[in-house]
Amino acid sequence: MLMPVGNTLTQPGDEAARPRIWALGGGKGGVGKSFISASMGVALAKAGKRVVLVDLDLGGANLHTSLGIRSSRFTLSDYLGGKVADINQVAEQTGIERLRLINGAADSLSIANIQFFQKAKLLRNLPKLDADYVILDLGAGTSFNTLDFFIEADHGLVSVTPDPGSVENTYRFLKCVLIRRLRTIPKKTRETMQQVLTQRREGGKRAGSLADFVEEMARLKPSVAGSLRNELDAMKLHIIVNQVIEPSDTELGRSMQMVCSRYFGTQIGYLGFLHYDRLVLKALQQRRPFLSTFPQSRLAIHVDTMVAALMAQDDI
Ligand SMILES: Nc1ncnc2c1ncn2[C@@H]1O[C@H](COP(=O)(O)OP(=O)(O)O)[C@@H](O)[C@H]1O
Ligand SMILES: [Mg+2]
Repeated sequence: MLMPVGNTLTQPGDEAARPRIWALGGGKGGVGKSFISASMGVALAKAGKRVVLVDLDLGGANLHTSLGIRSSRFTLSDYLGGKVADINQVAEQTGIERLRLINGAADSLSIANIQFFQKAKLLRNLPKLDADYVILDLGAGTSFNTLDFFIEADHGLVSVTPDPGSVENTYRFLKCVLIRRLRTIPKKTRETMQQVLTQRREGGKRAGSLADFVEEMARLKPSVAGSLRNELDAMKLHIIVNQVIEPSDTELGRSMQMVCSRYFGTQIGYLGFLHYDRLVLKALQQRRPFLSTFPQSRLAIHVDTMVAALMAQDDI
């Protein structure tokens, strides 16, 4: 099994100099991860920030489409394969001031399962991008590669649509994220956790929820439970409800927040909802980024508001 590489993306160092990293993830394809990544990138650039968008949907890269870009000189594979040595060189201009893109790999077959050393190389070097913000557009699903980029970002954003399949996959994704995060805690604490899990299993107890597990830890090993809670609470996770059509869909974010708190024992943020807007398709057909094409639309204004709320949480 692959071991996570530790918090290399956000390691303390020169805090002021490194870019803040936001990752877009979610269990399902088609929920708007790429659309939201691209739109947030445009919003940040409009707000005067230098931004690099990174297409990390390793098997199905199409972030460039949301920006109206057809092709690029370099892709992520040029960097991962060693053809280009400097990560800054593969971040190409998008035509929008201050916004650059590391285009996803065109040869999806060879890159869909990047090797451990390639993931480590990326995690080490993404903070070296010359930018204020780096946005990672991840693929669907819960592969270790996807989870490891997500858990190491400063903010983990999860896009969910009102479709029940998407809601279900989002809970699964969040659970995987939190469990994967727990694997990065010190070995001794992990071993104690493992002992408690084994005792539960041998005692014939059901796996139960993450919240149940943390509670049981608090009873049996209070000091370990404290560091578990800290680790879970340290993750800045946020839900975004996308493609809202019915007024009743707007309740989804808050109710998911309550369910997460009950079952995972940690607070997940709720950034708000975005309406479904036919103009998104129109912008795609015109090969132009939605946010710069329809900046006065309700959808564009809501993206701007979300970005401003997140920026306010970062200390740069
Ligand atoms: N709020 C929205 N309104 C209308 N269309 C949207 C909205 N969000 C996303 N889309 C469209 O839905 C499709 C799927 O979105 P995409 O960002 O590719 O999803 P993902 O990256 O999660 O697979 C795209 O064609 C995208 O432009
Ligand atoms: Mg996508």
